[in-house]
Amino acid sequence: MVGASGQTCPPALDFTLLIQSFAAYKLRVPQSPLPAINAATRLCAVLGSPIRHSASPAMHNAAFAALGLNWRYLALEVDPKNLRAAIEGARAMGFIGLNLTVPHKLLAVEMVDELDVSAQTWGAVNTIKFVSAENGDTRTIGYNTDAEGLATSLREDLKVQLRGAKVLLLGAGGAGRAAALKLAEENVAELYLVNRTASKAEEIAAEIRQRRPAVKVTVGYPQSTMDLVLNATSLGLKATDASPLDASQFPLKQTQAVYDMIYKPAETPLLVAAKAAGCRTANGIGMLVWQGARAFTIWTSQPAPADVMRMAVERSVYEH
Ligand code: ATR
Repeated sequence: MVGASGQTCPPALDFTLLIQSFAAYKLRVPQSPLPAINAATRLCAVLGSPIRHSASPAMHNAAFAALGLNWRYLALEVDPKNLRAAIEGARAMGFIGLNLTVPHKLLAVEMVDELDVSAQTWGAVNTIKFVSAENGDTRTIGYNTDAEGLATSLREDLKVQLRGAKVLLLGAGGAGRAAALKLAEENVAELYLVNRTASKAEEIAAEIRQRRPAVKVTVGYPQSTMDLVLNATSLGLKATDASPLDASQFPLKQTQAVYDMIYKPAETPLLVAAKAAGCRTANGIGMLVWQGARAFTIWTSQPAPADVMRMAVERSVYEH
């Protein structure tokens, strides 16, 4: 390095580089080791098919370690025809709880002893807690933490105040419907629904008008500015996908914030464009973290170490 006087100077300490390497180090090094498996170890698991790429074991085992729990979390490939047997097996073996992912969330509604209000509302179960009854039996309670995970992520990761917000929601499949109903439950003021198949958006709009008449719901693009644009379509998963947003109908500079439920790739073309337009942005990794954090609290009755869980999820999703 050459100084102004022309003399050679020692290289200055680059703090940005230091901070970046420390962050990278923290991402690679587990925060606290899990205690050794022994006869007292208790189990949780996620059941799904396919399940091999689930980030949930990394996330929950990191949380168990952070709290010093002698628990383990497994990912188990379970065919839908064996779901009932798998839940009963977990009950018989004294599991703490289960998570359910594709294709089990709807099937499990009929397979638990009790449905928490969250599972009743969404008609799907993604979390089961095994609870010891006074007579020595073990009861199964089904919950749904997905919608709460989205709302928490919008609040915590994107700093959106949902009550009174104006939201443009793209997509009216399973994820879009759940998002629309949750946004309505959170008392957004105006909700615009856009979907390739408009009839599906119309069905959701009708449902919201019936369940939450205070929310002004419209099918189609808004003419005014929005607080949030939320992508719940699958567009962006593949590099060749078109944008889920028609910029000629709604320019991104007309919204404050953009959330993409897709988290791999970490930055979809929609998020790249939103950043360039000056919007606050976040991807769906936070949904994964916050739905898991809620499940963790259901099982442990303790606050979840969300930062530890996020770090573990990011390492699992982006470094593998
Ligand atoms: P999920 O359960 O993840 O929501 P889904 O129910 O299959 O999956 O919904 C996928 C969403 O992405 C839908 O809104 C779908 O639009 P349609 O309802 O018209 O099918 C949307 N989507 C998928 N591929 C699309 C494409 N090529 N163009 C536009 N929208 C698409």
